[in-house]
Amino acid sequence: MSKFNSLKVKDIRRETADAVSVAFDIPPTLQIPYQYKQGQYITLKLTVNGEEIRRSYSICTSPHSENELRVAIKEVKGGRASTFINKTLKVGDVIEVMTPMGNFYTSLSGGHKKNYILFAGGSGITPMMSILKSTLYIEKQSTITLIYANKNEDSTIFKKEIDELELKQPNLRVVYVFDAPQQKVQELQTGIITAEKAKKLIENFGATADEYFICGPGPMMENVKSALVGLKVPSEKIHIEYFNAVVEAVNKAENLPDGKAGNSSAKVNAKIKVIQYGIETEFNLKTEGSSILDAAIDAGVDAPFSCKGAVCCTCRAKVLEGKVKMDANFALTESEVEQGYILTCQAHPLTESVVVDYDAN
Ligand SMILES: Cc1cc2nc3c(=O)[nH]c(=O)nc-3n(C[C@H](O)[C@H](O)[C@H](O)COP(=O)(O)OP(=O)(O)OC[C@H]3O[C@@H](n4cnc5c(N)ncnc54)[C@H](O)[C@@H]3O)c2cc1C
Ligand code: FES
Repeated sequence: MSKFNSLKVKDIRRETADAVSVAFDIPPTLQIPYQYKQGQYITLKLTVNGEEIRRSYSICTSPHSENELRVAIKEVKGGRASTFINKTLKVGDVIEVMTPMGNFYTSLSGGHKKNYILFAGGSGITPMMSILKSTLYIEKQSTITLIYANKNEDSTIFKKEIDELELKQPNLRVVYVFDAPQQKVQELQTGIITAEKAKKLIENFGATADEYFICGPGPMMENVKSALVGLKVPSEKIHIEYFNAVVEAVNKAENLPDGKAGNSSAKVNAKIKVIQYGIETEFNLKTEGSSILDAAIDAGVDAPFSCKGAVCCTCRAKVLEGKVKMDANFALTESEVEQGYILTCQAHPLTESVVVDYDAN
């Protein structure tokens, strides 16, 4: 069950000119709720210039080989949270941190002998660091190829750590791609990752991988995804983590608990029952177009959320009764949707009454 707790900032490290990593002090009483899987994220609740904002950040440490919970934040031009964290946050500050969440992982086992390809771009390296360190630690017979795109060498987050890891780990291969490299690199490793370049990179470095992970800027992710689809890689082998809503991305949603898609319009004045921390709250969804999340918050429920843009899954809940449709879904897996999970920030009731449970795991 997701929950905010006050955590003290233990360490802040400058990683590049526009990115820092931040580690938190987790007191013994909170060790269990802050256990995480490689590739998961936390959500921070910050007050910036008097405004309360929530932002999610992927954990870059490994739950298996490191005894730390650390995230890395790249400053976005004009970005409220990322600028605050890069410029103002100090060691010793206490901030509200939600317990870890997310689906961007695969189960690891010492018996596996797999090949993984990780495609990262810019700050999309954060979950990949956790994934690659964990996989190398647990799966001694598996191999990893990290294809990591950045503007240039100096703007590459964790470059030194990655280079050191590659030297120590024969099962790790790193392929940097730079828009404007400072040193001479091969042509394939120069310029932005177009769909064509993505295809060549995959063909060169692992068209037969067992699993692919993709996280980075929207266009890069779409290009890699379409290259994989073009190479007939089955969708269950592809894991994707979105940091932002992708403008023209496919709407995976239209989720109904019975698994059927539908076009019916959302019901205004539907009766909604929300279960959270075992407490039931009933209200009518009065405002046309309102999501179940917004209506629940208006009714006084402390419902969890972060992006409100269908990319994290902080607002995830399970539909126990009734039917809903979602505007978009870039976060839930197909299996979760089949089981009746929804993103409440995107969900609108299709039936007169709907029961959703935030406590369902
Ligand atoms: C599951 C998840 C995990 C994430 N993990 C990380 C992480 O590990 N490290 C990290 O740095 N970020 C991560 N993000 C993104 C992060 O949550 C914020 O969206 C980001 O820091 C920008 O927030 P902001 O408040 O600074 O910008 P805002 O004030 O929200 O936005 C300001 C402007 O910047 C634009 N913008 C917002 N985000 C980006 C972006 N990423 N690139 C370019 N322009 C942008 C907006 O469109 C807007 O115009 C993650 C997001 C999700 C959903
Ligand atoms: S709050 Fe991020 S998907 Fe709903």
